[in-house]
Amino acid sequence: MFNELNFDRIDLTAEPPAEEPARQYYFMAKCREWVSDFQKKNERLPKACVVNMGCQMNARDSEKLAGILEQVGYTEETDEQKADFVIYNTCTVRENANQKVYGHLGQLSRTKKKNPDMKIALCGCMMQEPEVVEKLKKSYRFVDLIFGTHNIYKFAELLYVCLQSPGRMVIDIWKDTDKIVEDLPSERKYSFKSGVNIMFGCNNFCSYCIVPYVRGRERSRDPRAIIREIERLVADGVVEVMLLGQNVNSYGKTFDSPMSFARLLQEIEKIEGLERIRFMTSHPKDLSDELIEVMGSSKKICPHLHLPMQSGSTRILEKMNRRYTKEHYLDLVEKIRRAVPGISLTTDIIVGFPGETEEDFQETLDVVRKVRFDSAFTFIYSKRTGTPAAAMPDQVPEDVVKDRFDRLLKEVQEIASEVCAVHQGTVQAVLVESVNDHDPQLMTGRLGNNLLVHFPGDESLIGKIVKVRLDECRGFYYLGEAVDMDCK
Ligand code: 5AD
Ligand code: SF4
Repeated sequence: MFNELNFDRIDLTAEPPAEEPARQYYFMAKCREWVSDFQKKNERLPKACVVNMGCQMNARDSEKLAGILEQVGYTEETDEQKADFVIYNTCTVRENANQKVYGHLGQLSRTKKKNPDMKIALCGCMMQEPEVVEKLKKSYRFVDLIFGTHNIYKFAELLYVCLQSPGRMVIDIWKDTDKIVEDLPSERKYSFKSGVNIMFGCNNFCSYCIVPYVRGRERSRDPRAIIREIERLVADGVVEVMLLGQNVNSYGKTFDSPMSFARLLQEIEKIEGLERIRFMTSHPKDLSDELIEVMGSSKKICPHLHLPMQSGSTRILEKMNRRYTKEHYLDLVEKIRRAVPGISLTTDIIVGFPGETEEDFQETLDVVRKVRFDSAFTFIYSKRTGTPAAAMPDQVPEDVVKDRFDRLLKEVQEIASEVCAVHQGTVQAVLVESVNDHDPQLMTGRLGNNLLVHFPGDESLIGKIVKVRLDECRGFYYLGEAVDMDCK
């Protein structure tokens, strides 16, 4: 996916350079030597499996890890049991994500007993929690490499140290960083669409959320680096980008001369050959009129906004430290719908935040009924150690939360299927993404509003934007027929 790098020009007898990214290229070259020795010994290349466990930011990080592994000579393996190097890119937003990791490790420990040369690595948000690392050191000694979110750009160096230290647990966790290293190699899952980081970290400290503690302070990428990356992607055939950040609406606020997210979007819009722009996630408190205006006038920004509301009760929103009210949220929805008619709105909702009463929950249901979201991710509140909400009184009993969750889910799903059906019979531009998983005669594509449609076609359409008539709504997706094969 990226240009073949010239490793022959790196002098491996010299000391590693101090500056980045040169230092990481030096260690990639060192790893390549190791891989070449492995190949001579085993008459095959080593296999690596990258397991992504988190959000879109994590998925993008996993592509970066895969890119480096590919550059140093590993081949891709999807079955973790068969790999020579397994890396779990972990999430810790909710407690059950942590449990999943321990489950995977339990299984792999048996595989590693049979194949002691196998290397197991862990990285990502969960590794930024000190109790987790303590537990791994005590009870999971067979793990070979642990690093966190702030030094992921050093992966090549850490991999090399790990390969050179059999039987040792290599641990490197940083508390925070203000560094953003550009121009490292990166694998891309799709040839026609790509995630692009525009900022890292979060300063919002919503009282239930662990992200600011594990992803650190907010820092935005230089707009020139973002534009350069997207221009390169477009030159390689990418037509759609998803701009990624925990809170994209506060992009550029920390620059010496601040730049708004709306301005960045206007610059990206100018890139010739780029057809679609998406972004996530937006915080309601930072969604500016300027941004709404830019969305309204843009030809490339997709008519979809993911706007997490978390709760419909102003009282709970205050306890959550969200810094907006129910009314403000509803006003925003009205404004955005006026500026972008037909826009698809999606959201995140937490049920069972400490102190949530039936009345508060009814407020949430009220917003759900008023807004009529195209879809909503619903979560049961998960207590995260170290966050202010974990110490709040009145944690809601499990059975009450479960009951509210079921009622919310039912409401959300009923509305979503009704909202989906309104497009029936229309013809829409669709970016063709893949052959359908269940029926090879069908292609699967995505509308600007993010809905999926399946329609007869062939593989040559992948990556193209075609016009499809939406014939039949099947709850959350459509069956359709292509009516125009080239509709850029
Ligand atoms: N419990 C439940 N859900 C949470 N989220 C974040 N922290 C928690 C938590 N402690 C949800 C929020 C956020 C989404 C990514 O995860 O809804 O928007
Ligand atoms: Fe967590 Fe709030 Fe930051 Fe989102 S905005 S990552 S919910 S602290």
